[in-house]
Amino acid sequence: MAMLEGKVAIVTGAGSIREGVGNGKAVAVRFAREGARVFAIDRDPDAVAETARMIRDEGGEVVTGVGDVSSKAECDRLVSEANFAFGPPTILHNNVGIGVPGEVTDIDEETWKRAFAVNVDSMLYMCQAAVPGMTEAGGGSIINISTIASQRSFPGLAYGTTKGAVNSFTTNLAGRLARNNIRVNAILPGYIDTPLVAPVWENEQVREANLRQVPMRRFGTAWEIASVAAFLASDEASYVTGVLMPVDGGLLVRL
Ligand SMILES: NC(=O)c1ccc[n+]([C@@H]2O[C@H](COP(=O)([O-])OP(=O)(O)OC[C@H]3O[C@@H](n4cnc5c(N)ncnc54)[C@H](O)[C@@H]3O)[C@@H](O)[C@H]2O)c1
Repeated sequence: MAMLEGKVAIVTGAGSIREGVGNGKAVAVRFAREGARVFAIDRDPDAVAETARMIRDEGGEVVTGVGDVSSKAECDRLVSEANFAFGPPTILHNNVGIGVPGEVTDIDEETWKRAFAVNVDSMLYMCQAAVPGMTEAGGGSIINISTIASQRSFPGLAYGTTKGAVNSFTTNLAGRLARNNIRVNAILPGYIDTPLVAPVWENEQVREANLRQVPMRRFGTAWEIASVAAFLASDEASYVTGVLMPVDGGLLVRL
């Protein structure tokens, strides 16, 4: 039997910022391949329509929702739409996250707050909207996308800082929601070759320098993030909660 048969999954940021397959898109497609009915959310209607097309071409079940998950009202509306389409979610995959420029002496207030709104507040709002239904459905799995930059110094101060908050949100929520039979885990991707970061690696020197940092000497793929997400979403991970799981080819443990 497919890993996620009978499950209803919400995936945020299920489109790709450019042509190709990003983390959110790969997760939405993989969840559908595993038998989940997927409610795919993105603020970009064309990007999420492309993900839906890919899922339907493979015979999967998907409904799309368009909106900005940094708004609480939008999250409430989107989760209502998901409930209407498929009933309460048993999987919530919070993939949306952005990097913003700026270091300690030059980042402006608006940019800092925007990073928190998109990377952290969105996860709270999606959980607030989805947890009651998930609880009534008997439980489920929440997966938050963080980054290894939450545990190491990395350019762009707000990015690592907000993702550190995502880690803490994950462990705090895991402790609280365990009694509702809801597991909450985070994935910490390393260098993943997605449309989001591909332009950075068009610079051969940067590409080589980044590759040298990775013990496995290659970048990961969005499908490798999706594999771990499928496991954490499934009943195979039924006793796994509160985990911050790096998926990084050994980047965090290198000498
Ligand atoms: N690629 C990497 O190397 C890497 C490494 C570590 C962590 N990550 C994390 O992976 C996640 C994103 O991966 P991706 O490849 O799917 O990125 P992506 O940039 O392709 O984004 C996916 C989608 O999110 C949508 N989106 C952005 N902000 C939104 C909002 N406020 N509301 C609704 N939709 C919104 C975009 O329209 C886009 O279609 C982020 O959380 C990022 O921090 C990526």
